[in-house]
Amino acid sequence: MQKLAAGNWKMNGSVAALAEVRAIIAAHPSPACDMLLCPPATLVGPMAQTAKGSKLMVGGQDCHAKASGAHTGDISAAMLAEAGATHVILGHSERRTDHAETDAMVRAKAEAALAAGLVAVVCIGETEAERNAGQTLAVIGRQLDGSIPAGATADTLVVAYEPVWAIGTGRTPTLTEIGEVHGFLRNRLKGLIGAAAMSVRLLYGGSVKPSNADEIFAVPDVDGALVGGASLKAGDFGAIIAALSAA
Ligand code: 13P
Repeated sequence: MQKLAAGNWKMNGSVAALAEVRAIIAAHPSPACDMLLCPPATLVGPMAQTAKGSKLMVGGQDCHAKASGAHTGDISAAMLAEAGATHVILGHSERRTDHAETDAMVRAKAEAALAAGLVAVVCIGETEAERNAGQTLAVIGRQLDGSIPAGATADTLVVAYEPVWAIGTGRTPTLTEIGEVHGFLRNRLKGLIGAAAMSVRLLYGGSVKPSNADEIFAVPDVDGALVGGASLKAGDFGAIIAALSAA
């Protein structure tokens, strides 16, 4: 399985920030892992142009479940694909919170993504209160069951485990806890899509940095990372790509 270093720029970045993208491409012309960056929608086209001919793939951060229509401010999966995206992040906890996205909505969006030829990067994760209450596996199991698209394969689905309390906080679960969740997800996915689950990339996300990447990538069933803040700087994201390539 080819591992995946994915970056989520969230609502950050500008045309000037494409200099970071050029630096990443120059430093990693042929990495031993896949590389993906997901900028704001306005930058998908320009970043895809910048990445043309390189190993860097570009993705969106959300799409609508419908192909077109009266949905002001929304963007369809086909529009992202036309702009040069190959992937789209769906169900990030910030969207689940800010936009009240439910598992059913995430699944509908993921199915639209697959229909448009995009890979769906489906995010799940427990809150701190849920972890403290011992509900982590129950919560992420329910989110996985409800969010992954019908007909998902290892080529069309990536799952990102992002504990909400680890995002942007500098805190992470212990390596044992990460391993427990990823092993659980692999098994649960087997029950949902069969043997293909063995080849679905399971990413860890939440305060991944150059300083903790090595140890996180050594955890069984961690097939890469979904990186927020540290994906904005070529030096940091490059170090994470290097760590994953060496894992
Ligand atoms: P940070 O890496 O900034 O914690 O963000 C993680 C994340 O939410 C990626 O989608």
